[in-house]
Amino acid sequence: MTVSPASISTYWDAAAAAFDDEPDHGLRAAGTRAAWARRLGDWMPPGPADVLDIGCGTGSLSLLLAEAGHRVTGVDLAPKMVERAQAKLAAARLPAGFLTGDAMAPPTGERRFDVALSRHLLWTLPDPVAALREWIGRLRPRGRLVLVEGRWRESGQGGAYVAGPETLPWCGGIGAEELAETVRPLVSRLRVERLDGEGDDDLWGKRVDDERYAVIAEVRG
Ligand SMILES: C[S@@+](CC[C@H](N)C(=O)[O-])C[C@H]1O[C@@H](n2cnc3c(N)ncnc32)[C@H](O)[C@@H]1O
Repeated sequence: MTVSPASISTYWDAAAAAFDDEPDHGLRAAGTRAAWARRLGDWMPPGPADVLDIGCGTGSLSLLLAEAGHRVTGVDLAPKMVERAQAKLAAARLPAGFLTGDAMAPPTGERRFDVALSRHLLWTLPDPVAALREWIGRLRPRGRLVLVEGRWRESGQGGAYVAGPETLPWCGGIGAEELAETVRPLVSRLRVERLDGEGDDDLWGKRVDDERYAVIAEVRG
Protein backbone atom coordinates (compact mmCIF):
# COMPACT_ATOMS: atom_id res chain seq x y z
CA MET A 1 0.00 0.00 0.00
CA THR A 2 1.28 3.49 -0.83
CA VAL A 3 0.30 6.56 1.14
CA SER A 4 -1.85 8.90 -0.92
CA PRO A 5 -1.28 12.68 -0.76
CA ALA A 6 -5.04 12.99 -0.15
CA SER A 7 -4.83 10.93 3.04
CA ILE A 8 -1.83 12.94 4.25
CA SER A 9 -3.63 16.20 3.54
CA THR A 10 -6.74 14.96 5.37
CA TYR A 11 -4.63 13.97 8.39
CA TRP A 12 -2.96 17.39 8.63
CA ASP A 13 -6.19 19.27 7.96
CA ALA A 14 -7.64 17.48 10.99
CA ALA A 15 -4.53 18.32 13.03
CA ALA A 16 -4.49 22.02 12.10
CA ALA A 17 -6.79 23.40 14.80
CA ALA A 18 -4.73 21.98 17.69
CA PHE A 19 -1.33 22.11 16.00
CA ASP A 20 -0.17 25.30 17.66
CA ASP A 21 -0.91 23.94 21.15
CA GLU A 22 2.49 22.23 21.10
CA PRO A 23 5.12 24.67 22.41
CA ASP A 24 7.46 24.19 19.45
CA HIS A 25 4.61 24.53 16.94
CA GLY A 26 2.77 27.60 18.15
CA LEU A 27 5.87 29.28 19.62
CA ARG A 28 3.58 31.05 22.07
CA ALA A 29 6.17 31.40 24.83
CA ALA A 30 8.50 34.36 24.43
CA GLY A 31 11.53 32.21 25.22
CA THR A 32 10.62 29.63 22.58
CA ARG A 33 9.98 32.29 19.98
CA ALA A 34 13.26 34.01 20.79
CA ALA A 35 15.19 30.71 20.61
CA TRP A 36 13.86 29.95 17.12
CA ALA A 37 14.36 33.55 15.97
CA ARG A 38 17.98 33.35 17.06
CA ARG A 39 18.61 30.08 15.22
CA LEU A 40 16.85 31.27 12.08
CA GLY A 41 18.93 34.44 12.21
CA ASP A 42 22.08 32.30 12.23
CA TRP A 43 20.90 30.18 9.31
CA MET A 44 19.67 32.92 6.99
CA PRO A 45 22.00 34.88 4.71
CA PRO A 46 22.60 38.52 5.62
CA GLY A 47 19.97 40.96 4.37
CA PRO A 48 16.40 40.26 3.31
CA ALA A 49 16.17 36.93 1.49
CA ASP A 50 13.55 35.14 -0.58
CA VAL A 51 12.66 32.16 1.57
CA LEU A 52 10.56 29.15 0.57
CA ASP A 53 9.11 27.55 3.72
CA ILE A 54 8.20 24.04 2.56
CA GLY A 55 5.57 22.20 4.59
CA CYS A 56 5.05 25.48 6.42
CA GLY A 57 2.21 24.20 8.60
CA THR A 58 0.57 27.02 10.55
CA GLY A 59 3.33 29.42 9.52
CA SER A 60 5.11 29.87 12.85
CA LEU A 61 8.59 29.93 11.30
CA SER A 62 7.29 31.96 8.35
CA LEU A 63 6.13 34.57 10.84
CA LEU A 64 9.54 34.80 12.51
CA LEU A 65 11.21 35.11 9.12
CA ALA A 66 8.81 37.83 8.00
CA GLU A 67 9.38 39.66 11.28
CA ALA A 68 13.09 39.57 10.48
CA GLY A 69 12.41 41.23 7.12
CA HIS A 70 12.63 38.20 4.82
CA ARG A 71 10.23 37.70 1.90
CA VAL A 72 8.50 34.43 2.67
CA THR A 73 6.56 32.02 0.50
CA GLY A 74 5.02 29.10 2.38
CA VAL A 75 3.76 25.90 0.79
CA ASP A 76 1.74 23.18 2.49
CA LEU A 77 -0.32 20.26 1.26
CA ALA A 78 -3.09 20.79 3.83
CA PRO A 79 -5.45 23.70 3.03
CA LYS A 80 -6.37 24.19 6.69
CA MET A 81 -2.71 24.61 7.60
CA VAL A 82 -2.37 27.18 4.84
CA GLU A 83 -5.45 29.05 6.09
CA ARG A 84 -3.93 29.27 9.57
CA ALA A 85 -0.60 30.44 8.23
CA GLN A 86 -2.31 33.14 6.19
CA ALA A 87 -4.33 34.25 9.22
CA LYS A 88 -1.24 34.31 11.44
CA LEU A 89 0.71 36.57 9.12
CA ALA A 90 -2.33 38.76 8.43
CA ALA A 91 -2.90 39.22 12.19
CA ALA A 92 0.70 40.37 12.50
CA ARG A 93 0.22 42.65 9.47
CA LEU A 94 3.20 41.08 7.79
CA PRO A 95 3.41 40.18 4.11
CA ALA A 96 3.97 36.59 3.01
CA GLY A 97 2.51 34.39 0.30
CA PHE A 98 1.04 30.98 1.09
CA LEU A 99 0.17 28.29 -1.40
CA THR A 100 -1.52 24.94 -1.11
CA GLY A 101 0.66 22.40 -2.86
CA ASP A 102 2.87 19.36 -2.69
CA ALA A 103 6.43 19.66 -1.38
CA MET A 104 7.45 17.13 -4.01
CA ALA A 105 6.88 19.92 -6.57
CA PRO A 106 6.21 23.27 -4.87
CA PRO A 107 3.81 25.27 -7.07
CA THR A 108 6.07 28.30 -7.40
CA GLY A 109 6.75 28.06 -11.14
CA GLU A 110 10.08 29.39 -12.33
CA ARG A 111 10.74 31.43 -9.18
CA ARG A 112 14.09 30.94 -7.53
CA PHE A 113 14.81 31.42 -3.83
CA ASP A 114 17.77 32.31 -1.62
CA VAL A 115 16.72 29.80 1.02
CA ALA A 116 14.63 26.63 1.02
CA LEU A 117 13.64 25.87 4.62
CA SER A 118 11.83 22.83 5.85
CA ARG A 119 11.11 21.78 9.43
CA HIS A 120 9.84 18.31 10.31
CA LEU A 121 8.54 17.44 6.87
CA LEU A 122 10.96 14.94 5.32
CA TRP A 123 9.68 12.04 7.44
CA THR A 124 6.26 12.16 5.81
CA LEU A 125 7.34 12.37 2.16
CA PRO A 126 7.05 9.35 -0.14
CA ASP A 127 10.38 10.13 -1.83
CA PRO A 128 12.39 12.50 0.39
CA VAL A 129 15.56 12.32 -1.70
CA ALA A 130 13.67 13.37 -4.84
CA ALA A 131 12.16 16.22 -2.82
CA LEU A 132 15.61 17.38 -1.67
CA ARG A 133 16.82 17.45 -5.28
CA GLU A 134 13.74 19.40 -6.29
CA TRP A 135 14.23 21.99 -3.52
CA ILE A 136 17.89 22.46 -4.37
CA GLY A 137 16.82 23.05 -7.98
CA ARG A 138 14.63 25.93 -6.77
CA LEU A 139 17.61 27.78 -5.26
CA ARG A 140 19.67 30.57 -6.75
CA PRO A 141 23.42 30.02 -7.06
CA ARG A 142 24.91 29.87 -3.56
CA GLY A 143 21.42 29.55 -2.10
CA ARG A 144 20.88 27.74 1.18
CA LEU A 145 19.02 24.63 2.13
CA VAL A 146 17.99 24.57 5.80
CA LEU A 147 16.53 21.33 7.11
CA VAL A 148 15.34 21.12 10.69
CA GLU A 149 14.95 17.44 11.37
CA GLY A 150 15.20 14.70 13.92
CA ARG A 151 14.50 11.15 14.84
CA TRP A 152 11.57 11.12 17.19
CA ARG A 153 10.97 8.47 19.76
CA GLU A 154 7.20 8.55 19.57
CA SER A 155 6.90 8.50 15.78
CA GLY A 156 6.25 5.38 13.77
CA GLN A 157 5.36 3.36 16.84
CA GLY A 158 1.80 2.48 16.05
CA GLY A 159 0.31 5.94 16.46
CA ALA A 160 -2.68 6.87 14.37
CA TYR A 161 -0.92 8.31 11.33
CA VAL A 162 -2.16 7.61 7.81
CA ALA A 163 -2.47 4.04 6.55
CA GLY A 164 0.73 2.57 5.11
CA PRO A 165 3.41 4.64 6.92
CA GLU A 166 5.93 1.84 6.41
CA THR A 167 6.11 2.91 2.77
CA LEU A 168 7.42 6.35 3.81
CA PRO A 169 11.20 5.84 3.77
CA TRP A 170 11.99 8.15 6.68
CA CYS A 171 8.86 7.70 8.78
CA GLY A 172 9.85 8.19 12.43
CA GLY A 173 12.51 10.68 11.38
CA ILE A 174 16.02 10.54 9.99
CA GLY A 175 19.32 10.74 11.85
CA ALA A 176 21.68 13.67 11.36
CA GLU A 177 24.48 11.57 9.94
CA GLU A 178 22.28 9.84 7.40
CA LEU A 179 20.66 13.07 6.26
CA ALA A 180 24.04 14.80 5.98
CA GLU A 181 25.37 11.89 3.88
CA THR A 182 22.33 12.13 1.61
CA VAL A 183 22.57 15.89 1.10
CA ARG A 184 26.38 16.27 0.90
CA PRO A 185 26.80 15.11 -2.73
CA LEU A 186 24.12 17.59 -3.84
CA VAL A 187 25.68 20.73 -2.34
CA SER A 188 29.02 22.48 -2.02
CA ARG A 189 29.09 22.98 1.74
CA LEU A 190 27.21 21.54 4.65
CA ARG A 191 27.17 21.69 8.41
CA VAL A 192 25.09 20.05 11.08
CA GLU A 193 23.94 21.97 14.12
CA ARG A 194 22.63 20.01 17.10
CA LEU A 195 19.37 21.22 18.59
CA ASP A 196 19.14 18.71 21.42
CA GLY A 197 21.78 19.91 23.85
CA GLU A 198 21.40 21.16 27.37
CA GLY A 199 20.91 24.73 26.22
CA ASP A 200 18.24 23.87 23.68
CA ASP A 201 15.23 23.32 25.94
CA ASP A 202 13.76 26.67 24.92
CA LEU A 203 13.42 25.48 21.33
CA TRP A 204 11.07 22.69 22.34
CA GLY A 205 9.54 24.04 25.51
CA LYS A 206 10.93 21.03 27.34
CA ARG A 207 13.97 18.79 27.72
CA VAL A 208 14.20 16.40 24.77
CA ASP A 209 15.93 13.04 24.81
CA ASP A 210 15.74 12.19 21.16
CA GLU A 211 17.78 13.38 18.19
CA ARG A 212 17.14 16.91 16.88
CA TYR A 213 19.33 18.97 14.61
CA ALA A 214 19.54 21.25 11.60
CA VAL A 215 21.42 20.67 8.37
CA ILE A 216 22.51 23.94 6.78
CA ALA A 217 23.86 23.56 3.26
CA GLU A 218 24.99 25.92 0.53
CA VAL A 219 24.49 24.99 -3.10
CA ARG A 220 27.05 25.53 -5.81
CA GLY A 221 27.63 29.04 -7.10
C1 LIG B 1 5.07 18.27 11.45
S1 LIG B 1 4.27 19.48 10.47
C2 LIG B 1 5.52 20.76 10.41
C3 LIG B 1 4.93 22.11 10.09
C4 LIG B 1 5.95 23.25 10.11
N1 LIG B 1 7.04 23.03 9.18
C5 LIG B 1 6.50 23.45 11.49
O1 LIG B 1 7.66 23.09 11.72
O2 LIG B 1 5.76 23.95 12.36
C6 LIG B 1 4.34 18.80 8.85
C7 LIG B 1 3.65 19.68 7.81
O3 LIG B 1 3.96 19.17 6.53
C8 LIG B 1 2.81 19.23 5.72
N2 LIG B 1 2.95 18.23 4.66
C9 LIG B 1 2.92 16.89 4.76
N3 LIG B 1 3.15 16.33 3.57
C10 LIG B 1 3.33 17.35 2.69
C11 LIG B 1 3.60 17.42 1.30
N4 LIG B 1 3.73 16.33 0.56
N5 LIG B 1 3.73 18.63 0.75
C12 LIG B 1 3.61 19.77 1.49
N6 LIG B 1 3.33 19.76 2.80
C13 LIG B 1 3.20 18.56 3.40
C14 LIG B 1 1.67 18.96 6.68
O4 LIG B 1 0.43 19.41 6.18
C15 LIG B 1 2.13 19.71 7.91
O5 LIG B 1 1.70 21.03 7.90
